Amino acid sequence: MSKFYITTAIDYPSAPPHIGHVYEKVCADVIARWHRLAGEDVFFSTGTDEHGQKIQKYALSSNKNPEEFVEIMSKSFIDLWAKLNISFDAFIRTTEKRHEEITQSIFKKIYEKGDIYKGSYEGLYCVDCEAFYTEKDLKEGFCLIHNKKAEKIKEESYFFKMSKYQERILEHIQNNNDFVQPQERRNEIINRIKEGIKDLSVSRSSFDWGIPLPVDKSHIIFVWFDALVNYISVLGYPGERFKKYWPADIHLIGKDILWFHAVVWPAILLAADIELPRKIFVHGFVNIKGEKISKSKGVIVHPADLINRFGADALRYFLLREIRFGEDGNFSEDALIKRINDDLANDLGNLVYRTLTMIEKYFNGHVPEGNILDKKWKQILGSFLNDVNLCMSNLDFNLALDKIWELINMANKYIEDTKPWNLAKENKLDELKSFIRLLVDVIREVAERIYPFMPETAESIKEQIGKDKIKKGKPLFPRIDKLTTGA
Ligand code: ME8
Ligand code: MG
Repeated sequence: MSKFYITTAIDYPSAPPHIGHVYEKVCADVIARWHRLAGEDVFFSTGTDEHGQKIQKYALSSNKNPEEFVEIMSKSFIDLWAKLNISFDAFIRTTEKRHEEITQSIFKKIYEKGDIYKGSYEGLYCVDCEAFYTEKDLKEGFCLIHNKKAEKIKEESYFFKMSKYQERILEHIQNNNDFVQPQERRNEIINRIKEGIKDLSVSRSSFDWGIPLPVDKSHIIFVWFDALVNYISVLGYPGERFKKYWPADIHLIGKDILWFHAVVWPAILLAADIELPRKIFVHGFVNIKGEKISKSKGVIVHPADLINRFGADALRYFLLREIRFGEDGNFSEDALIKRINDDLANDLGNLVYRTLTMIEKYFNGHVPEGNILDKKWKQILGSFLNDVNLCMSNLDFNLALDKIWELINMANKYIEDTKPWNLAKENKLDELKSFIRLLVDVIREVAERIYPFMPETAESIKEQIGKDKIKKGKPLFPRIDKLTTGA
């Protein structure tokens, strides 16, 4: 059985999860479920990134010590993932002892190799990005991601000789087309590397919320060094699980943290003599009605609230159907409601409901035996499977869903064209049987294909259609009346 290791970024638990965090975890979950369906031995990891100045700052502003703060906050992530059916195999918190020890051991290994030296850092830092910047990265001194003023800092610091790995990293990216995807991101990172890789400040001493340096207890390890190591500490490096699952098959991340994953992480791995991951896939950003998520500007939606009102599957479906994987997209409640009403209640829900109703009405609740007579449909089903598989292996999720919905809509049209009530009236029993059989086959295929996207719905369809005596149940997705939602 082949193994498949997929990771997400580990989130900063500086506030409860937002829709961007949800999007990434849902995408990863779809990939993980798809690979499990294919019979692979999947390991899917996620977690929270709990050290650093940013977390310390947010803890302070809510009058908690950092330990208490991250305890509460990381729980809000774990709880949300349960509500969303995120099927991770491991959740890593960077404040766990297992992680701290492995991070120190990697640091020490690189230090002993001579790739870490003591110097002094002077420059600009955005606490919310936990990243060092130069003037030209900023807009009038403000970071482009959070629109916050970068601080000037000057302190003694340990440096990682990242510059030493510039050529090897560049060559690796150039020689391995799949290493950074999509293509635009690959080009972007190649250009940035060509501008030069500088050594990286990897320790801080002006605050203490972090993992102590194994070689100097007055410093803590820079939060990004600490965070990146999660991808191997979660596997218990260098133990059995690490040997089994590393290298990662996909690191799924957002576009703002590409440098850390395509440059800093490979440099750390090269320095520590560890194999590089196979692929870094960069997804786009979810905006809210065209604007960047921002708590301070009130551009925010509450994922738990959306799930309570519309269901996990509806939200998962919306994000995957509406946003092209790798590109930015938009969330709005109006668009979500439209997708629920049009695609889920109307197209999918009606197909299942009408079919179950006919099985109950014409065949006393039993799916008729027999073959599908229609050659055209046999062909349609065959090429449908190929198309969906191809889209899924290319990570074209919205196209896969487009294909599935094409089939659903063809089946709905087939019902309208066939007019089964006439077949029943005219007592054309063979035709009616073959017709229902076909619909049942289509629904089974649909349920199978939507499973990675909407696991609860897929299970519910399979259960309804698999009963000994079928009865039409409740509709899968009730229509949402906009007036009642207050949207
Ligand atoms: O960057 N839409 O954590 P984070 C889509 N702790 N994705 C988004 C997004 C949006 N609006 N906003 C953020 C960190 N993300 C680090 C990662 S990994 C070793 C350490 C994505 O909570 C973002 O790109 O700021 C990242 O992949 C993930 O959410 C966590 O972001
Ligand atoms: Mg961020």
